[in-house]
This record gives sequence, C-alpha cells and structure tokens, in this order.
Amino acid sequence: MGTALALAERGRGRTAPNPNVGCVIVREDRVVGRGWTQVGGRPHAEAMALAEAGANARGATAYVTLEPCAHQSPRGPACSDLMIEADVARVVAALGDPDARTAGQGFTRLEAAGIAVTRGVRANEARRSMAGFLTRQALGRPHVTLKLATSLDGCIAMADGSSRWITGPQARMHAHLERSRHEAILVGRGTYDADSPRLDVRLPGLEDRGPMRVLLSSTAEDVPGWTVIAAPRDIATLPSVDHILVEGGAAVASAFLAAELVDRLLLYRAPILIGGGKPALRDIGLTDLSAAHARWTPFDARQLGMDRLEVYERERNEA
Ligand SMILES: NC(=O)c1ccc[n+]([C@@H]2O[C@H](COP(=O)([O-])OP(=O)(O)OC[C@H]3O[C@@H](n4cnc5c(N)ncnc54)[C@H](OP(=O)(O)O)[C@@H]3O)[C@@H](O)[C@H]2O)c1
Repeated sequence: MGTALALAERGRGRTAPNPNVGCVIVREDRVVGRGWTQVGGRPHAEAMALAEAGANARGATAYVTLEPCAHQSPRGPACSDLMIEADVARVVAALGDPDARTAGQGFTRLEAAGIAVTRGVRANEARRSMAGFLTRQALGRPHVTLKLATSLDGCIAMADGSSRWITGPQARMHAHLERSRHEAILVGRGTYDADSPRLDVRLPGLEDRGPMRVLLSSTAEDVPGWTVIAAPRDIATLPSVDHILVEGGAAVASAFLAAELVDRLLLYRAPILIGGGKPALRDIGLTDLSAAHARWTPFDARQLGMDRLEVYERERNEA
C-alpha cells in the first residue's frame, strides 16, 4: 500500500475531477503491475496496473488507494469489472469511494465475484493523498493550502511592501514543488500589483507543471493570463481545480481564514527580524481566544537551509 500511495502522488494536482489513485498488483511476492491515475483523470490507476500485469494478474493481490469504481463511463470501463475480468484473487483498499456512482458498490461487485476484499489499510494516508478529491466531494470546493513566508517576528513584507526575498533558495524551491502539486495558485490584487508574480514552477523537469493563475479582486476585470474571481468562495467554480495554493498577501490570507476556507497551512519562517513590517495576517474574525485553539494540528516540521518549514492541517469533522 505504501508503494500504491507513492504512485498516487504522481497524479496529484493533475487528475481533477477524478481522484489521484495509485495501484500495485502483486503475485507471489513480485510486483507485476503498477498504475496511477493519468493526467485528466483517465486511464484510472487500476486499468494501467492491470494492463501492465496482463495474465499475471490472475490470482494476484491488487493494492489500491481507493475503492475500484463501479460506474461505466464513455471514457473507460468500471475498474471493479476489470479486476473481475482479470481474475485477481484479492483487493486491498485504503478508502471507500464517496462518489455516489460507486459508494460501496465497487466492493460489493468484487465480493459477489468471489474476490476477497480488505478495506481501511493506511486510510489516513490515503485521505491526505486524495484530499483534493475528498474535499470536493464533501464540501463542494477545492482543498485549500495557504502558504506564508514570514520573518521571525511574523512579517510577510517590509513596510514599503518589498518581500523579495524573505526565505532562502531551498525554501523557495520547496514552495515551487508545492506549486506543481496544485491545479491553481491564487494571489490578491495587492500582491499582483506589488510583485507581478509569475507563479510558475521553476524546477528542472517540472517546468510544464505551471498551474492556473487566479487573481482575487473585486475590482479587476479581464487580466490576460489570469482567471479573476471576486470572492474567496468563488474557488468552488474554478473548472477542474481540486487543489488550490493561496500565496497571499495578508488581506487574502485573512479573507480565506475568516471564511473558514483553509485546510492546510504551509509556514516558511526565515531567521530574520523585520520590525514594523507588514504582518502576515489582519483580522480573521476571532473574538474569543479559546476559539483559536484546537483548530490546527501539526503535521510536518523541517529545516530547509536556513529556514524552517511548518505544516499544519485544519481539524475538521465534516471532511
Ligand atoms: N511573504 C509572503 O509570503 C508574501 C506572499 C504574498 C505577498 N506578500 C506581500 O504582501 C503584500 C500584499 O499584501 P496585501 O495584504 O497588501 O494585498 P493582497 O492580500 O495581496 O491583496 C489585497 C487585495 O485582494 C483583494 N481581496 C482581498 N480580500 C478580498 C475579498 N474577500 N474579496 C475580494 N477581493 C479581495 C482586494 O483587491 P481589490 O481591491 O481589487 O478588490 C484587495 O485589495 C505585498 O507587499 C507582497 O509583497 C508576501
């Protein structure tokens, strides 16, 4: 399942509206097929892995990060049918598919055909891996990561607005890798005017991964090369976007937090003091300090050159 989860990452940010799934087929302790959801959502991971396995799939175990689909589509057959046709002996899945067209029917179909099914293996990791798809299914909007690069004293820019650069090259490269895992990146009008950001992926081999550029502004009209939205909640209307990276500035970060639209925080902290600069956040609608607690769970912390990266996830019961 660990291998299937790793393969699933290859599709992250490129498979919407389909989930980025990974699949590994193992026969007699040998991997005979590997697959991951392809760009645009098809072929599915299972179809790719079964095609690679060929006749070796007979009697094998398929490890898959999501329940094989039960629905026929003009774009391809149902993966549960493909598993049955290939005569696999066992399917090990991390998560059930919340899509109403499958929702347990994939498992039912497999079991009715005599295939052993194990569910719930490494489910939390799979939830994280498919956060975009699952957030879209549960909340009807993309999964939102808010990125902030701050000084030790919590500033995102000097008082005059200059913010290049707060963090060092390793942190900036990491931020570019994060960009490649999102279908869209959003900044506010203030950042657009101050920095004219390119928001592309400047990493060797990933230059073609440049996400859709989205500008939040209630006043801007057509901006060539950008999709303009007028309010944070409009992210729900962006076509084929299941992951969006919000890159600031302070007004935008605060607006997304106030609207309860942030699922993950990426905080890059540089060992510098600015003093009297632009604070990372404005009012986020907090009136009671106790309400600030138990909202963010630390997920990762690491050193990137001179800078510190901390990743937090929003505690949410509904997603
Ligand atoms: N260190 C970092 O991580 C980082 C990242 C990005 C930016 N920055 C710095 O941050 C500064 C810019 O931040 P900022 O706070 O001045 O500006 P900003 O957040 O980038 O943009 C503010 C603008 O976004 C639009 N906006 C914000 N909330 C909105 C809402 N709820 N609905 C509709 N539109 C909304 C408005 O545009 P309209 O007025 O057109 O409606 C508003 O004027 C710059 O100095 C930049 O260099 C730092």
